[in-house]
Amino acid sequence: MDNNGLEGVVVADTRLSDVDGERGRLVIRGHDVEALALRHDFESVCALLWRGTLPDAAAHAALRSALGRARVRAFARLPSLGGALDAADAMDALRAALAHLRADEVAPAELKLELTAAVAVFAAAWWRSRAGLPPLAPDAALGHAADYLRMTGAPAGDAARARALDAYLVAASDHGMNASTFTARVVASTQSDAVSAVVAAIGALKGPLHGGAPGPVLAMLDAIGAPERAGRWIAGQLADGQRIMGMGHRVYRVRDPRAAVLERAVERLHAAGVRSDRLALARAVEAVAVASLGERRPERRLAANVEFYTAVILDAVGLPQALFSATFAVARVAGWLAHIDEQFAHGRLIRPASRYVGPMPEVCEVA
Ligand code: COA
Repeated sequence: MDNNGLEGVVVADTRLSDVDGERGRLVIRGHDVEALALRHDFESVCALLWRGTLPDAAAHAALRSALGRARVRAFARLPSLGGALDAADAMDALRAALAHLRADEVAPAELKLELTAAVAVFAAAWWRSRAGLPPLAPDAALGHAADYLRMTGAPAGDAARARALDAYLVAASDHGMNASTFTARVVASTQSDAVSAVVAAIGALKGPLHGGAPGPVLAMLDAIGAPERAGRWIAGQLADGQRIMGMGHRVYRVRDPRAAVLERAVERLHAAGVRSDRLALARAVEAVAVASLGERRPERRLAANVEFYTAVILDAVGLPQALFSATFAVARVAGWLAHIDEQFAHGRLIRPASRYVGPMPEVCEVA
């Protein structure tokens, strides 16, 4: 059966982001991801995605404080989430918890803030509950990245870590027609609501071929342990028919530009005194993986994708592996919401076709 996974098929015009897979370039609303992620925080990229321009100081302060207040409201919802946060997996918990929101209960203008805040607050509360600890209430005065870290119980009040997490959240905020964004747009295209679209997108993000990869990348780095062991370990995986997590991409034929952004952000953390032993190991493993994959399939260029250094940076800022995919959702919800708006405003029902390759009745069975 032909199964091209819609590769190369254009399903929408968008003003939100452009992925150039040959050159390794990601542009988000007119800005290169490198410039955005290393100079701006998550609130700025929310303004950019949702309104079209980077905010001035007053608009930034207003959005930051509105998002802070939305986190406080999300926290107040925790007792009404039933057993949603009892799930063993963070993405299962997030999907169930977000499903408790109702689009018709929130003013349309507030819905983006409400959902963006809820993803961070629910993910952090899930982790605290897994650790047998009570949830930590948001501090509305903090930026979203710093407060998310604090709510998870990661080292608090550390500006360098919050800045590194901001770089990650910005870099991961939007990325063309990836699987979860497409999912959100399909749901929005039926004129359903933004809560339903985000819940569906969470389901798509969970899979290891999309947002589920950084946890396994960290497990791989731990299993390898030292650069000199990388060659044997990777050869063993490939001989077993396993994929190397954090390598390869549907669109990029060169290194994912976000990998470089995150690598740079980890270097900045090092310069600020927060050291991660895993950076050197990750670089060594990446080099071996690229060489081994290249030898096996010279015609299909496989390089590091965003998830490779996501594992390094999220670990370095103090987040547990169990929260890696949920933290991707903390970032990507900004992009989903922008795409949902764009779909509502300009889209048509997304209803592709399939080719039937099953049997036909031997004779026409309709009288
Ligand atoms: N390790 C080993 N082989 C890989 C590989 C990897 N990470 N990624 C792709 N390949 C191989 C496949 O085995 C396949 O080989 P085959 O034709 O002999 O079966 C070939 O490259 C094409 O793979 P395919 O799955 O068709 O490409 P895709 O465009 O659908 O895949 C990914 C893109 C991201 C799903 C894929 O590269 C992958 O699984 N990567 C690992 C998971 C990951 O890092 N996900 C995060 C993405 S941001």
